Amino acid sequence: MSDTLTIALSKGRIFKETLPLLAHAGIEPVDDPETSRKLILDTNQADVKLVIIRASDVPTYVQYGAADLGVAGKDVLMEHGGAGLYEPLDLRIARCRLMVAGREAWTPQTRRLRIASKYVNSARHYFAEQGQQVEIIKLYGSMELAPLVGLSDLIVDVVDTGNTLKANGLKPLDHIADISSRLVVNKASMKRKHARVQAFIDRVAEAVERQQAA
Ligand code: ATP
Ligand code: PRP
Repeated sequence: MSDTLTIALSKGRIFKETLPLLAHAGIEPVDDPETSRKLILDTNQADVKLVIIRASDVPTYVQYGAADLGVAGKDVLMEHGGAGLYEPLDLRIARCRLMVAGREAWTPQTRRLRIASKYVNSARHYFAEQGQQVEIIKLYGSMELAPLVGLSDLIVDVVDTGNTLKANGLKPLDHIADISSRLVVNKASMKRKHARVQAFIDRVAEAVERQQAA
């Protein structure tokens, strides 16, 4: 393995909210992923690169060592299952809640309820705990549409302000988990590049503490 440290990030809110934490660790990207078409971004440090990928692909890149480190939402990590990863730090960014939502509160049914979600494992696990039989319908986005057009009875999705639910006539029903983004580390990188990885974690942890205190 080379001496380069590769950090996997997704565009959008995770990139934006991770930037100040990286800056505290002395890392500044040379290009802006929102305007650049590059998928590997150089930084001000020759031996640190950022790879820009879909949020739900971050755990996979880190698991296989294609990236040493990454930032992923707990929702995504719960789906992935965490194999091959350490999760040493809660970055306390991109905070939201994983929830069941629908038009009306649901009560246990003898028929199978239809649940639309991109979080198929979390949804299956949650309703199994409730003793409710379900059919999970995998979607990749715009989950809020599913109950409106009769595709599902309920959805499982992340909720922050609740505005998207409200705009679509849905209500937040059951709280499944509090979500924030986590720093994840490839298990082999943690061993082979221990000093650098640990120094990076420590700097980022300091930045998180400072942000909380501010
Ligand atoms: P993908 O591109 O893989 O489908 P995505 O579109 O969900 O992923 P983002 O919208 O950038 O990617 O969300 C990244 C993470 O931010 C999510 O995994 C979740 O942890 C968190 N998140 C999602 N929506 C919100 C929100 N409205 N407010 C705060 N955090 C959120
Ligand atoms: C996420 C999520 C919800 C919305 C919740 O979508 O899928 O639709 O945020 O946030 P709210 O409670 O504040 O309305 P996002 O805005 O990230 O769009 P996406 O579907 O492109 O991920």
